[in-house]
Amino acid sequence: MNSDAPADAGLRQRLGRWKRRLFGGVDPNLGAARQHRSFDAMSGVLGWMLALAKPEVRRLPLSGRALEIGTGQFMAHAAGLYVCGFDRVLTVDRYRQVALPLVQASMEKPVLARRFLSPFVPHDQFMARWQRLAATGFVPERLAGIGLEYRAPVEAVALAADPERFDLIFSYTVLEHVPPADLPGLLAATSGLLAPGGVALHFVDLEDHLDPRGAPFAFLAPAAEWSDEQCGARGNRLRFAHWQRLLADSTGLQWKFPYAAVRHDASLPAVVGHALGPADENDLRTTAFVAVAQAAGGR
Ligand SMILES: C[S@@+](CC[C@H](N)C(=O)[O-])C[C@H]1O[C@@H](n2cnc3c(N)ncnc32)[C@H](O)[C@@H]1O
Repeated sequence: MNSDAPADAGLRQRLGRWKRRLFGGVDPNLGAARQHRSFDAMSGVLGWMLALAKPEVRRLPLSGRALEIGTGQFMAHAAGLYVCGFDRVLTVDRYRQVALPLVQASMEKPVLARRFLSPFVPHDQFMARWQRLAATGFVPERLAGIGLEYRAPVEAVALAADPERFDLIFSYTVLEHVPPADLPGLLAATSGLLAPGGVALHFVDLEDHLDPRGAPFAFLAPAAEWSDEQCGARGNRLRFAHWQRLLADSTGLQWKFPYAAVRHDASLPAVVGHALGPADENDLRTTAFVAVAQAAGGR
C-alpha cells in the first residue's frame, strides 16, 4: 500500500499548485479550514464522539497519551484532544499534507469549542491549554515541544514497531479510505497499541464521497475493479455488517456502535454488485457509524 505514496504525494503537490493558480493564489481548502474543519466545528464532533463513547466504557481516558490516525490537513482534532487534557498527542498521516496557513485558519476564531468540550474539560483548564497551543503559532516543531507531535508521512500500521502505547486511539473519516485488504492488518496493529484500559474510538463515513448528498450509494453498483485510488477518493464500499465482522475478527476487542445512521432519502443501485460479501438492506443503507472498544486492564 505504501509503494504508491511518493508518486501520489508528487501528484498532490502539483494538484495543489494548479488549484492555487486557478483560485487566484487562495487555497480553496481555506474555506474548509474556516467552516466544517475549523477547530470549533471539529470540537463539536469530538465532544459528540466522546459523549457517545462515555457510557460504553468502564472509564473514558482524558489524560495520558492519545493517538490520532489520519491527521488530514488541519490538525483540529489533535488540538481538541490536547485541550481535553492529554499531555501527549501523536497525530499521524500517510501523507504529509498539513499546511501552516490551513492550520492557522482552522484555529483562528475558537468561540464554541469550550462549550462543546465542557462535559470533558473544565473551563479554566480549556483556556490554559488553548493558550499553550496558541502560543506555538501552531508551527509543528513548536507544537511538538508542548506534547503535540505531527508525524507524517507514516502508515499507521508501522506504529506497531514502536513501544509507545496509548490511552485513546481516535480517527475521524479515515478508515473508510483504507483498501479492504489492508484493513485487518491496520485494525490489528492499531488496537495492539492500546494501553491497558485504553479506548479506541472511530467515526467511519460509508457514503460515496463523490456525491455524498445526492448519490451516497452510487459506488455500490457493480464495478469490475475497485482500486486503492478509488478507496482513497470515494471510500472502500464496505458496509456496516462487514465492518462489524472486521472489527471483531481483527482486534479481539468487543466493539460497541453507539451511533449508526441509516439513510432512506436516496436510492440503492438496482443491482448491488461488489464482491465484498452479503449485506442486508439496512447494512447497505447505513451511511456512517461510531465504533468504540476498550482494552482489558487498567483502572
Ligand atoms: C478524509 S481524510 C480525514 C482527515 C482528518 N481526520 C479530518 O477529518 O480532517 C483521511 C486521512 O487519512 C489518511 N490515511 C488514510 N489511510 C491511512 C493510513 N493507513 N495511515 C495513516 N493515515 C492514513 C489520509 O492520508 C487522509 O489524510
